[in-house]
Amino acid sequence: MIELNNITMRYSMAGTVITVLRDLNCSVAAQERVAIVGPSGSGKTTLLLLMTGLEQAQSGSVRINGNALESMDRDQRADLRRKEIGIVFQSFHLIPSLSARENVALPLDIGGTADSSARADEMLSRVGLSERRAHYPAQLSGGEQQRVAIARALVHRPGIIFADEPTGNLDEATGQSIMELLFDLKKESGATLLLVTHDPAVAMRCDRTLRLQEGRLHDTAAPSSEALNP
Ligand SMILES: Nc1ncnc2c1ncn2[C@@H]1O[C@H](COP(=O)(O)OP(=O)(O)OP(=O)(O)O)[C@@H](O)[C@H]1O
Ligand SMILES: [Mg+2]
Repeated sequence: MIELNNITMRYSMAGTVITVLRDLNCSVAAQERVAIVGPSGSGKTTLLLLMTGLEQAQSGSVRINGNALESMDRDQRADLRRKEIGIVFQSFHLIPSLSARENVALPLDIGGTADSSARADEMLSRVGLSERRAHYPAQLSGGEQQRVAIARALVHRPGIIFADEPTGNLDEATGQSIMELLFDLKKESGATLLLVTHDPAVAMRCDRTLRLQEGRLHDTAAPSSEALNP
């Protein structure tokens, strides 16, 4: 489903080159829940950007459902994202000038789906925000904004959900309810989930943890209680 082969990623800035990921290999199976952990600056976000085709590595291959991202052009990668991938960011990334409903409908509108508003409403109701659908992002709390962002990431029923510290900007209680929602929606949809987190309790709920350290990936199969008793 997701396969990385010999990925090396460097950033160069002001004459210095830093190697963020070194000859990295991993694969994630369909429907798996994988936690990505590691110190700040270890390359977790970079790894997600590579897996979603938003960044390109200097060498190596990323395959999503058998499609090698490096042999596609920008439009093809955007198309693949539109069909197969949902992304939730720490800082929500909602469009301020669009209402909650318009934000959620946007990926469907771009894809030319006719009943985008109805499907956006359905998804907003699923995340408990029917009453807020006409609100703009600035009129929503942090937790509500993240719910809208989750609705937007999942409205096209992607097979893979990426989430980069989705509760990083939220208080603990709100963060917990957002995490519950994400795990529930993952279960319902049967999607694969890749989740960057600093919280060991959240990582425990996943089937596996990938730890990034000094450019390398360490795989710890950590059967969680949920994985053992799904
Ligand atoms: N566009 C960029 N240009 C140059 N360097 C970058 C760029 N993006 C990231 N980096 C560097 O690459 C390294 C990895 O960054 P990344 O954002 O992937 O870390 P992270 O593990 O997600 O950290 P955090 O937990 O703080 O979010 C950092 O040293 C960062 O400074
Ligand atoms: Mg990050």
